[in-house]
Amino acid sequence: MTNERLLHVSGSTDSSPLFPPTLRENIKKTMQKIQTKSILRLYWQHIRPYKWSFLAIMIAVLFASGTEIIIPLYYKKFFDLISTASPDQNNQTSILIRIILTIMGFHLFTWVAWRISGFFICWRNPQVIVDLSRSALEVLHKHSHRFFLDHFAGSLVRRVGRLERSFDVLADQLIWKFFPLTIVVIGFVVVLTIRHPIIGLILAGWTIFYILVNFWFSLIKYPYDEKRAQFDSEATGVLSDSITNATTVKLFTGILQERSLYHAITERYRRLATFTWRLHEFMEAGQALLMIGIEFVMMYIAVRLWKEGTFTIGDFVLVQGYLVGLFNKLWDFGKLIRHSYEALADASEMVEIMETEPDVIDVRNAKPLDPQDGRIEFRDVYFNFNETRPILKGLNLMIESGEKVGLVGPSGAGKSTIAKLILRLYDIDRGKIIIGNQNIARVTQESLRSQIAVVPQEPILFHRTIMDNLRYGRRDATDNEVIEAAKKAQCHDFISELQDGYNTYVGERGVKLSGGERQRVAIARAILKNVPILVLDEATSSLDSASEALIQTALHDLMEGRTTIVIAHRLSTIMEMDRIVVIDNGRVVDEGTHEQLLKHKKGIYKNLWEIQAGGFLQ
Ligand SMILES: Nc1ncnc2c1ncn2[C@@H]1O[C@H](COP(=O)(O)OP(=O)(O)O)[C@@H](O)[C@H]1O
Ligand SMILES: [Mg+2]
Repeated sequence: MTNERLLHVSGSTDSSPLFPPTLRENIKKTMQKIQTKSILRLYWQHIRPYKWSFLAIMIAVLFASGTEIIIPLYYKKFFDLISTASPDQNNQTSILIRIILTIMGFHLFTWVAWRISGFFICWRNPQVIVDLSRSALEVLHKHSHRFFLDHFAGSLVRRVGRLERSFDVLADQLIWKFFPLTIVVIGFVVVLTIRHPIIGLILAGWTIFYILVNFWFSLIKYPYDEKRAQFDSEATGVLSDSITNATTVKLFTGILQERSLYHAITERYRRLATFTWRLHEFMEAGQALLMIGIEFVMMYIAVRLWKEGTFTIGDFVLVQGYLVGLFNKLWDFGKLIRHSYEALADASEMVEIMETEPDVIDVRNAKPLDPQDGRIEFRDVYFNFNETRPILKGLNLMIESGEKVGLVGPSGAGKSTIAKLILRLYDIDRGKIIIGNQNIARVTQESLRSQIAVVPQEPILFHRTIMDNLRYGRRDATDNEVIEAAKKAQCHDFISELQDGYNTYVGERGVKLSGGERQRVAIARAILKNVPILVLDEATSSLDSASEALIQTALHDLMEGRTTIVIAHRLSTIMEMDRIVVIDNGRVVDEGTHEQLLKHKKGIYKNLWEIQAGGFLQ
């Protein structure tokens, strides 16, 4: 395969830097992407509790920057005096020394002001950052099941990280760069204009021009920077994919292919990086020329004014001092824009999610669910994941209190979906689902879910200890109760053999346990939860027949006295249900006991049974 085709496979065919759309489009895109107002509102919500600290920071920075305007004025005084006085005039020397001491005093004052702002920043910034990430976690958990299916966990985690970092960067840029720059520019221009209007106004005009040019250039450069970041993360993606598959690469001797793929993708990055670095160089060259230009113009005018007798040596020192100060602050102005913009763009990804209304929410005045005896009814329920394909089409199903109902039907018939709808992981399109005598759409989600225990088809565990994972079923359970439940679910033996017993960490998503072990942990959790409604979605599908047989008793006890829905692909599990409901094409097509259903000559159940019978008649 050629590199180009490999790149295509990896999801992108771009191998040369695209030239950006027109400037106007750039600006439009830029403005659309960042929801500055929402971001600032979010930041403000998190800063508000500490607003006095942030005010103190601003005041300290104001004073510290103010001295940058005042100190050159004393130097001016100093040089005016020194250029006119002679060393043998005694009182002149003491005046000079007093000026130097005053300057030292201001330096000391500046030092203190910076320390004060630093102190408050160190104290409050981490607090705000942590608060932001805490709010992010809280908001994320309010989102629906569908939301988490639509977003990769990794990408959500990255967004939270970016939100935190963006606050850090933006606060830095505003407090250390933007605010001091504004104060200093205003101060310099005002002081110079008072002394020599022409010098002050030229400096003002030049600064505005410089800032505009920089802004314009940053807008041109931004799309390239963005693209470079994208190429960079694609290269990282290829690298991590390749490393994740290290064993496969070895087994299939794929090192050459890996090398050439990575070479191609990093080459693309290199080309764009070279281009953006050149742009940056170009911008710096322009900036330097602008600075040399203003220096020359200022000095030229100064000399003219000196000739007219209105410009002193001290004025030269003052103008020079201000120019150097200004150049220092303006040199990185492009970076200031870019970093602030990037920070806003980073934050918008998360802010967008924080501003989105979750798609399953409690209605106003939602009441807690009173499951009463645990009767469940589906009344003419319609549901689809997307418009093109309805999953449930007028499903009617009544499950009496304490009844054990088995759901069967071809794969993809919507059995797991029915389980999810009882838990209101999705809202239905039409109809009603009733528990006890309440419509589940009108009760709080929390109370609904706290009354139903689920053993999902593919349980995922936290990367915490087994004890913690089990106790998630009922957080106030004692160790003994947890162990008791684990014993019933046939977990105790395998847990005891683990390195740290119940304190063993199970790996990300529970990868250190086998599928069957995870399922048993999930069953133990359901046992612990001890609630009136139980949903088992192929709860024993990953168990071998021997373990399943062991667990049957536990399941049997668990179902006792509870309204239970059992979805099983092995009909042997279903046989002992009070009633079996056959689902096909979004509706109930048949129901009855095992024996009754077998008598329905052409029924789906009979078919399924015949296909599987070989399996369990042995
Ligand atoms: N989150 C989803 N988004 C879109 N389609 C889905 C989603 N989950 C399930 N489906 C589709 O809905 C149908 C029913 O799925 P499911 O209820 O899991 O079937 P099963 O009866 O095998 O448990 C399947 O065809 C599946 O492809
Ligand atoms: Mg299923």
